[in-house]
Amino acid sequence: MNLAVIGHPIAHSLSPQLHEQWLRASGLFGRYEAIDATPDQLPALFAAMREGDWDGFNVTIPYKEVVVRYLDDLDEAAKHAGAVNTVYKRDGRLIGTNTDGAGLVQALMPYTDFTGRVLIVGAGGAARGIVQALPTRDVTIVNRTVERAKALADTFGVVYTTFDEMDVSRYDVIIQTTSVGMDERSTPLSLEGLRQNTVVCDIIYRPLVTPMLQEAKRRGAKVVTGVAMFVGQGALSFEKWTGVKPDETVGKKLIEGLLE
Ligand code: ATR
Repeated sequence: MNLAVIGHPIAHSLSPQLHEQWLRASGLFGRYEAIDATPDQLPALFAAMREGDWDGFNVTIPYKEVVVRYLDDLDEAAKHAGAVNTVYKRDGRLIGTNTDGAGLVQALMPYTDFTGRVLIVGAGGAARGIVQALPTRDVTIVNRTVERAKALADTFGVVYTTFDEMDVSRYDVIIQTTSVGMDERSTPLSLEGLRQNTVVCDIIYRPLVTPMLQEAKRRGAKVVTGVAMFVGQGALSFEKWTGVKPDETVGKKLIEGLLE
């Protein structure tokens, strides 16, 4: 298996360690590289994949949208998400998919069956990928720019609210998708009134426990770090390329160890 993640910058990607561990554990020969590509290198990379030099790519920032022009087709997840994070080959054709949302949903399954209300914080690309993958339409979107919350809610037939009107006690699952919290100080919303059994998930994994998750923990909520989504999306990509379901628990332990 010849696999890689393509992005810019890419030096801090944890995907090579995750996938190489899974390749070894599955008894598959191969490698997973991190390719720091400039935009003008993309055509050659996808041509090489078409010719058989590569079995699969992950695509990350800033290429999740532009990559579409080098592919033959997109599956439903990529179309709904409006972005591609995984490229695989079927019958000589390059297909783009997006495993971010489904990976997160899969990672949250041990914590919730999604029969309750879900609050999505943020309305950007990450939020879109997650909303399209949720197995429920009982979803509320809250975002700093209200028009973007409304636009995303309208696209998927769900509702939106504002930070002023929002009441966190109404939700069973809260998923934080903005970049707020990466600085280790800020939190995008107040968790005043949070119920103890609420599942609170942040998709940020650096820091491993964001200020929002620290507060959720203090309030007795069930806390899920961004490692869940990272490992979940990786597992679904790995399965697309190899046909093998990798061990997510082992992957989660490895990544948490690298981040702690
Ligand atoms: P991504 O693809 O990572 O989701 P994006 O499409 O740029 O990136 O979306 C960023 C999200 O983070 C948006 O929901 C954005 O809110 P706005 O739509 O109001 O811009 C949110 N975000 C980023 N910085 C923020 C901040 N300082 N406070 C609140 N929300 C912020």
